[in-house]
Amino acid sequence: MRLHGATALVSGTNRDLGRHFAEQLLHRGAAKVYATARRPELVDLPGAEVLPLDITDPASVAAAAAAAGDVDLLVNNAGVSLGVNLVDGDLDKIRMTLDTHFYGTLAMIRAFAPILAANGGGAILNVLSVLSFQSFDGNNAYAVAKSAQWSLTNGVRLELAGQGTLVTGLVFGPTATETMKAYAEKVMEGGALPHGVMNDPADIVRTALDGVEAGKIEILADSFGATAKASLAGDPRAFVLETASAG
Ligand SMILES: NC(=O)c1ccc[n+]([C@@H]2O[C@H](COP(=O)([O-])OP(=O)(O)OC[C@H]3O[C@@H](n4cnc5c(N)ncnc54)[C@H](OP(=O)(O)O)[C@@H]3O)[C@@H](O)[C@H]2O)c1
Repeated sequence: MRLHGATALVSGTNRDLGRHFAEQLLHRGAAKVYATARRPELVDLPGAEVLPLDITDPASVAAAAAAAGDVDLLVNNAGVSLGVNLVDGDLDKIRMTLDTHFYGTLAMIRAFAPILAANGGGAILNVLSVLSFQSFDGNNAYAVAKSAQWSLTNGVRLELAGQGTLVTGLVFGPTATETMKAYAEKVMEGGALPHGVMNDPADIVRTALDGVEAGKIEILADSFGATAKASLAGDPRAFVLETASAG
């Protein structure tokens, strides 16, 4: 898909990867970028059209779709990483994790699929994770949600092929966003993920947008992603993110 002249909507643009997506789309010559956020007052992106959007709120999703009927690229970036395990983790946080990554992404796709069809097919980019393929003790609810989001991506790709919509999954590992750096400091006590091991968010977004322009349906954007995907062919004990060795 050609990004020059495209009209994109990105979720979660008030910081980190979402902000990079909106910014780089503008730099690549997108005709319009809807930069959305739960707290739109925090979005600082000159040239973007700012819209309020909470992907877990059906009324908010419907309002965004009503306001952005010219979209031909949907970037489902918004996410939460609550550091919750499955057996003894807070059930409300587990539900919120799935509500965001799975049901939130699904709600966005259901709302925007007819818009993409009306605008010639376009593309959907779902921001997945190395934890779509692997588990991580301490954040296993997130891994479940990212895994579901990967399957969602594959299913939707089949369902939207007839209308000509490219559906792409972006897979990558730890990336030095503010959230991830704080998580590494707090939950991993700074040791398991030294900053040098983490990706630069701008690089991940550049690789992702190159992949969409090239029409890729799955982008393994770093060595974490490639290792995780390859591990699926191996022993199930390999389905664990090894942060110390996978840089
Ligand atoms: N950083 C990594 O290492 C990494 C690795 C692999 C995949 N990812 C994925 O990449 C994406 C972005 O990650 P990030 O590190 O940039 O995360 P981040 O810094 O925590 O940013 C997440 C963004 O999503 C927004 N958001 C959360 N829940 C939302 C909702 N219900 N509706 C709308 N927006 C919502 C947040 O808004 P608020 O400010 O309102 O909370 C924020 O703007 C996520 O899907 C994440 O799972 C990240």
